[in-house]
Amino acid sequence: MPAPTASSIAIYPGSFDPLTNGHLDLIVRGSRLVDRLIVAILGNRAKQPLFSVEERAEMLAEVLKQYPNVEVAHFDGLLVEYAAQRGAKIVLRGIRAISDYEFELQMALMNRRLRPEIETVFLMASEAHSFISSKVVKEVASLGGNISGLVPPIVEGRLKSKFQPRP
Ligand code: PNS
Repeated sequence: MPAPTASSIAIYPGSFDPLTNGHLDLIVRGSRLVDRLIVAILGNRAKQPLFSVEERAEMLAEVLKQYPNVEVAHFDGLLVEYAAQRGAKIVLRGIRAISDYEFELQMALMNRRLRPEIETVFLMASEAHSFISSKVVKEVASLGGNISGLVPPIVEGRLKSKFQPRP
């Protein structure tokens, strides 16, 4: 008889302002590695977001409704405290290019110092998504450029209505 295993819960934290196809790829791949994946939106950000936490959560929930082991949530304060509160032992993060590494290393080491029992696990972004960021997508959308294929269709629609509101 196989030994019983504790269920694995991971948190994938981020700003998701807005969700991109790069995030989505990571969520889908990450969700196959654990029993439950909590996609957690950071609420208390100093910088002004384009979408409210509620709008971001709505878009994420719509796109992720087909993945039964993925939950959308939001948190304020320290990530590792939220992870501990949710029973998550894994923080999932994506790395696109070497430029991401420094910030990710700093965050992972700080998080480990705060809560050594929580591990950060990195997945490499797929080639097709390694150049996509929420920031660049917002900039292109704000200037009327084509963002199809970079974000899920629902996000594309929301971005269009933010930047080109109908009269
Ligand atoms: O999508 P982002 O902006 O790269 O996500 C960054 C995020 C939300 C993962 C990070 O800012 C975070 O965890 N913030 C919560 C505050 C915290 O725990 N800080 C200490 C670790 S540096």
